[in-house]
Amino acid sequence: EAAKDVARVLASMNEMVMARLYAHSDMLELARYSDVPVINGLTDYNHPCQIVADALTVEEVLGDTIDGKRIVYVGDGNNIVHSWIELAAIAKIDFVCACPEGFEPDAGLVARVQASGVGTVTVTHDPVAAVKGADAIYADVWASMQQKEEAAMREAVFAPFQVNEELMAASGKPSTIFLHCLPAERGRETTDGVMESAQSHVFRQAENRMHAQNAIMVYCAGAAPPP
Ligand code: NVA
Repeated sequence: EAAKDVARVLASMNEMVMARLYAHSDMLELARYSDVPVINGLTDYNHPCQIVADALTVEEVLGDTIDGKRIVYVGDGNNIVHSWIELAAIAKIDFVCACPEGFEPDAGLVARVQASGVGTVTVTHDPVAAVKGADAIYADVWASMQQKEEAAMREAVFAPFQVNEELMAASGKPSTIFLHCLPAERGRETTDGVMESAQSHVFRQAENRMHAQNAIMVYCAGAAPPP
């Protein structure tokens, strides 16, 4: 069924719609044909709701502003990375993505954000050098939801990018926090030890999905035309 058909049916029955889809193009079509707000609950391109919760978590744990924070993501240049890069266009963060060669984020998006002159974005292939001085180190699964058949191949490529105790220590400061959008695969992109460490704030981050999501719905309710 065409996304534009689903859009009009859902919009006729609801005051807002949140959709989790694979194809980002379907999300854009849903939004285009819906006359109620459409919230992007994840696509294969980005995951904006998650990054609102992540930014809230950084501000709660590390201070009252995310400005000036060095956020180092280690792993696949995926949907999470794209939303962090989009955040760097509106917040003065220094975002670093350390990924294997061939798994970089969208270069066009990186260039657009760099041109914004707000935050900075760096893409590198050296996780140990990348995490030096990090305020937050962030991990996500090596194979996203629509890539599970590539999991074995990815496991070999991503092994040097595991966020383990050694990589956390390579930040050079004990105040560095660990974040993960969940679900986590312990023993792959991170370890049980890091997940359970005092540096880990992943469950506060998970709770913050609810608070951030509520804020997004309040925003959408206010911005929506009267019924
Ligand atoms: N990159 C992950 C994020 C899950 C919240 C995925 O798309 O599966």
